[in-house]
Amino acid sequence: MTDSPMSTFHRRLPGVVYGGDYNPEQWPREVWPEDVRLMREAGVRLVNLGVFSWSALEATDGELDFTWLDEVMDLLAAGGIAVNLATPNAAPPPWLAENFPETLLVDRQGTRVSIGSRGHFCPSSPVYRDRSRRIARALAERYADHPALAMWHIGNEYHAHCFCDLCDDRFRGWLRERYGTLEELNRRWGTRFWSQHYSDWGQVHLPRPVRGSVNPSRELDFARFTSDLQLELFTGERDLLRSVTPQVPATTNFMQFFRLVDLHRWGQEVDVVALDIYPDPANVNSLADAAFQYDLMRSVGGGAPWMLMEQAAAAVSQWKLNLVKQPGRMRLGSLQAVAHGSDSVMFFQWRASRQGQEKFHSAMLPHGGTDTRTWQEVRDLGEELVRLGEVATGRTAAQVAIVWDWTNWWAVEGVAHPINSLDYRDIVTRHYRALWRRNVAVDVVTLDDDLSAYRVLVVPNQYLMTQAHSAAVRRFLEDGGHLLVSFFSGIVDEDDRVHEHGHPGALRNVIGGHVRDFSPLPVDTAVTVRAAAHQSLLDGGFRAAAALWQDDLVTESATAVAEYTQGYLAGQPAILDHHLGAGRAIYLGTQLDDDALGELVAAVLQRAGVESVHAAPSGVEVTERQTANDRFLFLLNHGEGTATLTLDRSGVDLLTGHAVETRHEVVLGPGDVAVIRSPLSRVASSGS
Ligand code: GLA
Ligand code: ZN
Repeated sequence: MTDSPMSTFHRRLPGVVYGGDYNPEQWPREVWPEDVRLMREAGVRLVNLGVFSWSALEATDGELDFTWLDEVMDLLAAGGIAVNLATPNAAPPPWLAENFPETLLVDRQGTRVSIGSRGHFCPSSPVYRDRSRRIARALAERYADHPALAMWHIGNEYHAHCFCDLCDDRFRGWLRERYGTLEELNRRWGTRFWSQHYSDWGQVHLPRPVRGSVNPSRELDFARFTSDLQLELFTGERDLLRSVTPQVPATTNFMQFFRLVDLHRWGQEVDVVALDIYPDPANVNSLADAAFQYDLMRSVGGGAPWMLMEQAAAAVSQWKLNLVKQPGRMRLGSLQAVAHGSDSVMFFQWRASRQGQEKFHSAMLPHGGTDTRTWQEVRDLGEELVRLGEVATGRTAAQVAIVWDWTNWWAVEGVAHPINSLDYRDIVTRHYRALWRRNVAVDVVTLDDDLSAYRVLVVPNQYLMTQAHSAAVRRFLEDGGHLLVSFFSGIVDEDDRVHEHGHPGALRNVIGGHVRDFSPLPVDTAVTVRAAAHQSLLDGGFRAAAALWQDDLVTESATAVAEYTQGYLAGQPAILDHHLGAGRAIYLGTQLDDDALGELVAAVLQRAGVESVHAAPSGVEVTERQTANDRFLFLLNHGEGTATLTLDRSGVDLLTGHAVETRHEVVLGPGDVAVIRSPLSRVASSGS
């Protein structure tokens, strides 16, 4: 049996891989040997090379010149540094736009964008596709046997959506493929409304600006189409590279919640999932939110380790206000990614640029060179990651899943809804954080995934539910699962058509009640909620502030867990608890304040018998990864003060090298981390 491309990669680069984006074309060649020397000093083992090098490799159409790249590849190989070589399709050179204006992307308003930035290509343009594949093939053929080549980095952060005529044609083609007949398209899009019925395919277009409200079903298909169209670009290049270098894994760098890129589908097409992430030091929740992204990466890759492909060593430069990472926080964030399954820590970028759009973006090697705090921390982290080598390839099993669904995102933030400013990211992230604070392992799934491994399933605002979703939820409950589902779920089908027989149509008979009216609350208003009598889920003293939304809920076979004490719904249920099969469905008809949501989530976990990975004081994050023989417990102190916890196992702290015993106290300074290795069997027996 031949090895998978990723096992070849791991054999070559075992352990946790360290490195970053390397852009040598921005520097005179005298700098390159110094780069390699300093990379070695920092422990860099892999660089992402050539991500934006197209114009430096092909100055005019067809005039490919790889001289400088040959030199850099050789230098890196000689220095023992492996290369994740990019196909440079994210930033086409000026000649492409000049010779072929149709390769430029058209925005929704109909403006064809100009050159001078990046990502300005039309994903449908045959010329763009041809030229980007030509250079990709040339790179593959030239470097196939080069000792530095370890991985392919295809493009950069795919997220183009284009409204040009070429894309318009492709959209029609995509719809014909999906629906077959025009009548079916009319049915799916509900075109009897406002006289939109199409009598000829030529009348069907991309959702360019309209005078009033847009047709939500068309918008939904546009989002699906856009994700598919870009994925086609990626897989086209991937297949081309595979045909030349079958043993070299190929990936692209995903980005935190790009709207039109459905990573549940994309994750299946890459050899390894890779993420760029820039947690904002100004946001107190940014590392909890980062954990959500990390768990999403692990999940879309089918549980396999993933790669942290880019992060900032200190500050970014693209926001209004760019705070620096305070001492120790870059280390904490990096080790957090490893704690959640990353087998790499990489940065944008290696050396800070002197010119261009990102000259104030931090880098591993700052403008100030090696006499800087950032460099010191970068070097120290490089050393520490060597000590964590055994963690690599380790996996994490979760008993809890939360649903994050791109298709639902596109639909739930649609037009002419009870609330037209609903923020799906914010709502799901709040639910995730409630789980994160309880230190349970979480997978991030859709209702199309296999749910049989989970005891708890959290489903925030799943507005779009197909018949299959409905059946999956029911099966999950019948098998004894614990479901927590929140308001405005189960409302429409895959075409954004309201389910029949009242709300929530796809969850009727699941939640043990029905919704009489959606009743959004005025902005900045809250009503109080308290535990109901005769319920068995929450502490009797439970109190919450409910905001944003209220369902006017009617109980059928469920029990009220909590009820409103204010407003016109006073005395009516806010939360329902329903037995179904061997399982329990909790329905949350409003948005609770974060503490109360935390209590509700804790109660559901407790009822389901799901425990934290390890007991820890508040502010300490705990995760675990397992390899064939060992368990690695990660303890990460996010707080500003010292935290102490008592270990439930013995082992070795990999970062200090010290042995630790059961009931030993681990003391973590602010931002500090411990990683405890224990043999799998010993953990099992100490728990009994
Ligand atoms: C993204 C890009 C990089 C760079 C960084 C800046 O992740 O991939 O090229 O622009 O952002 O944070
Ligand atoms: Zn286009």
